[in-house]
Amino acid sequence: MSQGHERLERNIGLMGVLIAAVISVGGFVEIVPLIVGTQVDQPAPGVKPLGALQTAGRDVYVREGCYGCHSQQVRSLDEETLRYGPYAIAGETVYDHPFQWGSKRTGPDLSRVGGRYSEDWHRIHLMNPRDVVPESNMPGYPWLAETPLEVAEVQAEMTALRRVGVPYTDEDIAGAGAAVDGKTQLDALIAYLQTLKASPRAPAVAAATAIETNKESKP
Ligand code: HEC
Repeated sequence: MSQGHERLERNIGLMGVLIAAVISVGGFVEIVPLIVGTQVDQPAPGVKPLGALQTAGRDVYVREGCYGCHSQQVRSLDEETLRYGPYAIAGETVYDHPFQWGSKRTGPDLSRVGGRYSEDWHRIHLMNPRDVVPESNMPGYPWLAETPLEVAEVQAEMTALRRVGVPYTDEDIAGAGAAVDGKTQLDALIAYLQTLKASPRAPAVAAATAIETNKESKP
């Protein structure tokens, strides 16, 4: 060990100062781009606030703790993009409060599940998963089909979301009544699940994913 290093390791004051300096540089390069850039707080192309019915469904998703078994975040690794689709970008979830990225995967990631199954499939699956996936250990949520949505609750949720930056207009909130009238919590949850799709993204990434997927399907 060099003389200089030995002196440094024996001087806790100097070591503390240098550790603080190293951490500051690390913090600077990670935090400052988030403050000055727009990548994480601007919506990605095609990302819009959820409609009233879908917002109510998202509320059910959060309340029932679906995030305890499902992430909504595809990592930028081949095995993830091949299975689920394009990897997640921050701009996809700017209107998501609180976001549902998660990391626990007892079940599959759901961020690209929209459109993969029909509404009827979801209805059967959410009532009793084993009716469509015999080996499933996901719980059933049959009470959602019997619980009507409360218009006032959905409007309060949208008002709260507007306060934290989701651009709902007064008309959006007033129109919630018509959108959720006569619907159940199950209808809302399914409508929400069907919105979970990748935003249209940089063509280069989309093309690369398509090539990879092609390779996979041709033996
Ligand atoms: C105890 C863990 C657990 C909980 C809680 C849970 N799930 Fe699941 N989920 C699973 C497992 C395991 C699977 C895979 C087997 C299957 O399809 O049922 C799954 C599959 C799914 C699928 C099909 C995904 C695909 O790509 O095939 C959807 C959609 C889904 N869950 C939605 C939900 C929703 C919505 C909730 C909350 C109301 C929820 N899950 C709660 C474990 C869970």
